[in-house]
Amino acid sequence: METNKKVIFSGIQPSGALHLGNYLGALRNWVALQDEYNCVYCVVDEHAITVRQDPAALRRQTLELFAQLVACGIDPEKSILFIQSHVPAHAELAWVLNCYTMFGELSRMTQFKDKSAKHADNVNAGLFTYPSLMAADIMLYQADLVPVGEDQKQHVELTRNIVQRFNGIYGDVFTMPDAYIPKVGARVMSLNQPDSKMSKSIPEGCVYLMDSPDEIMRKFKRAITDSDTERCVRYDRANKPGVATLIDIYAAVTGKSYEQIEEEFAGKGYGAFKPAVGEAVVELLRPLREEATRLLADKAYLEGLYRAGAEKAASIAQRTLRKVHKKVGFLPR
Ligand code: TRP
Repeated sequence: METNKKVIFSGIQPSGALHLGNYLGALRNWVALQDEYNCVYCVVDEHAITVRQDPAALRRQTLELFAQLVACGIDPEKSILFIQSHVPAHAELAWVLNCYTMFGELSRMTQFKDKSAKHADNVNAGLFTYPSLMAADIMLYQADLVPVGEDQKQHVELTRNIVQRFNGIYGDVFTMPDAYIPKVGARVMSLNQPDSKMSKSIPEGCVYLMDSPDEIMRKFKRAITDSDTERCVRYDRANKPGVATLIDIYAAVTGKSYEQIEEEFAGKGYGAFKPAVGEAVVELLRPLREEATRLLADKAYLEGLYRAGAEKAASIAQRTLRKVHKKVGFLPR
């Protein structure tokens, strides 16, 4: 890694297929950060098993996500791209950090409270200590900045507390990270429930990166618009949330402003607008889907990429872990 650049770390779970919300909200930004920063990006399969996964599906999704990240423009030459379980230092540092993370702190995590309500039959210790594994991810690479959505800010705050606690006892071992909330991160809402974020739990309103053009067009044509009487393309999130969702997507894809979009569709109604947004998304995703498909046909090439990524990651992570083991008093091997 170049020494004059700040370090960025972020992770993404292989618990489902990539969708337009992931791409416009996070990944496109990950790609843009690669020139200015030393970026380390990780497919966090260890986090994924805090809720029950089907093993074959997890394996497939991990490889697909890895290929899709490359297809989206994460460049394994510029950045370090790897799979979490391939670098044992993550689990090893997480154990140490568990001993410097308080039960009370973890109990206050809103994601833990939400997920334990949702998966009441499987409130396992991993779900509880999920944030100290995430802290280990970040701290192993001495990350300065952590691009995350709103929902993960609390976990980055906790990471900062752990860094402060550890450094307070042992001296400057870890870099203090900051959450990095992108200036123009698009928040993509569900096409048929415009008050919820686009997610796989609302399948009809979710456009996947790997959806065929026909499938994408179908989803956009069936997108919810509003039952207001004016039926014109005007941005009004409070009163016309369905149309606002489509305008936001069209703006994120084309780079046009709300005013430009309203002008473009003046007098045209929803019937023209919905397919236009669909077509813009089809063209945005087409090259990504094609490249991911091409990569997934060459498993040996992908294996080469993720092995090389894990090797680069491990050499940095190992250096941090050795320092930590020394500080806490483990006898050197
Ligand atoms: N918890 C994050 C999420 O669900 C994923 C993640 C794991 C992560 N480790 C990370 C994000 C480290 C940023 C940094 O979205």
